[in-house]
Amino acid sequence: MREIRNIVILTGAGISAESGIDTFRGAGGLWENHRVEDVATPEAFARDPQLVLRFYDMRREAIQTKEPNAAHTALARLDAEWPGELLIVTQNVDDLHERGGARRVLHMHGEHLKAWCTWCDSRHAWSGPLADCPPCPKCEARSLRPDVVWFGEVPYHMDRIYRALREADLFVSIGTSGAVYPAAGFVQNARELGARTLELNLEPSQGSRLFHESRLGPASEVVPAWVDELLAG
Ligand code: APR
Repeated sequence: MREIRNIVILTGAGISAESGIDTFRGAGGLWENHRVEDVATPEAFARDPQLVLRFYDMRREAIQTKEPNAAHTALARLDAEWPGELLIVTQNVDDLHERGGARRVLHMHGEHLKAWCTWCDSRHAWSGPLADCPPCPKCEARSLRPDVVWFGEVPYHMDRIYRALREADLFVSIGTSGAVYPAAGFVQNARELGARTLELNLEPSQGSRLFHESRLGPASEVVPAWVDELLAG
């Protein structure tokens, strides 16, 4: 087996579930109570911007009341102590990886705590509401939207992600259902490039059969156990 030096970790909503942030497709998940077509597409934003802005205002406010859990802090420890390359690619738009202490993090679906001005294309740290259409801090246009990647839009950082997958010896997927591409295809990419692949999830995901190994259980338990094992060498 190839020596493990370079690691890519993909995370999804399941890693933040125990911090009290809803997942999307689980029981009581966000997409059970809101239609994607109404709140998470550019078409929805064009049709009813207030509905979309209020939806994200509610979520932006909620995540600021949540705390990282043991899975986030375990990955932060790995990030700090791992001597090789390591990249945490998250589909999550919350900031719990960073508040847990992780540094080598990429948000491929954007971030709640950022606003994007569609007039001057600038991005700004943002913790308050957007539904009252505040002016852009740079150009003063009232064209701010959540800096979140909606369905039908291209995810961020794809070049860096594919570069890291090409270099990876180990690909680990945590707390994701494998329902959304391109993230759901990373396990196949990594495997075809010779990497070892491991899934850590509460239940089997749509892509479980593609992994060399799956460990099932709550992230706050399986992630710290895996990190301890890896760092113990
Ligand atoms: N620990 C580990 N895994 C968990 C936990 C937990 N405590 N709770 C739930 N899970 C798992 C579920 O079993 C499920 O497989 O997390 C996964 C969550 O799946 P989704 O709700 O589909 O979320 P995610 O995979 O992140 O969605 C991908 O879809 O809606 C879009 O852009 C959004 O980034 C999101 C993307």
